[in-house]
Amino acid sequence: MDYYKQIFKRKSFHIFKNTDTLTDSEIQGLKDFIKTVKPLNPEIKTEICIVPESETTCKRGGQYCILFYSETKGEYLRNIGYIGEQIDLYLASQNIGALWFGIGKLQNMQINGLDFVIMISIAKMPEDKFRKDMFQSKRKPLSEIWSGDTLGVAEIVRFAPSACNTQPWIVENAGNNLMVCRFKKFGKRGIMPADKVRYYNKIDMGIFLFMLETCLEYENYTYERTLFADTTDDSIEQTLVAKYTYSSK
Ligand SMILES: Cc1cc2nc3c(=O)[nH]c(=O)nc-3n(C[C@H](O)[C@H](O)[C@H](O)COP(=O)(O)O)c2cc1C
Repeated sequence: MDYYKQIFKRKSFHIFKNTDTLTDSEIQGLKDFIKTVKPLNPEIKTEICIVPESETTCKRGGQYCILFYSETKGEYLRNIGYIGEQIDLYLASQNIGALWFGIGKLQNMQINGLDFVIMISIAKMPEDKFRKDMFQSKRKPLSEIWSGDTLGVAEIVRFAPSACNTQPWIVENAGNNLMVCRFKKFGKRGIMPADKVRYYNKIDMGIFLFMLETCLEYENYTYERTLFADTTDDSIEQTLVAKYTYSSK
């Protein structure tokens, strides 16, 4: 899978219009792909199911929803973000439109002792409905999210998707280390309650880490990753979640 290429093509289909129909073999392909995804933490049990969108509260015109279930231990939200972004990018490669749908609910909020975490709604879309110029997408200025040498990575990874486009990441590049933090500005209040913001932003950080690694690999860096537990205290503006010590190949 050329994940890097799909970063430029993917986008959120907030409403699916003029959809095509996903065939059984496309669904089988997706199921096969799901079996190959790499977790951040293999010790956390997860399950991924595909159900008709009509079985969920998501009403965006998608044909199916991909449901993510997990053991709720450790950094399970970050783990789901990391896994889910691999799927998001795969879907773009197959001309399957996707929408991470944080507010979605469903009847079976548990399976096999695992809790429902989040869903992605999907529908087959014509190729020309995907992103044509990623650089036109609304994002924070680079200087707000990255300090130090950009490595050709910052310019691309900043387009990672996030809940309500919050982009809760900050990276400091110093001495061959990328220090990746979850950032929550003091006092800034959006439309979501604080605990919900934290919940989604932890998923966002997993998404970001997957895209960051994809970009580092594309730019021929090797790296050693160290993950840190994410504190949930809002009295801290910046929480270190990962460190990447990199070198050129
Ligand atoms: C964890 C997560 C949850 C999201 N939840 C919703 C949602 O409930 N409703 C919605 O319309 N979009 C949702 N989105 C989509 C974001 O609004 C979208 O990714 C962001 O605005 C950036 O746009 P882009 O994905 O087109 O690049 C979610 C995205 C993420 C990553």
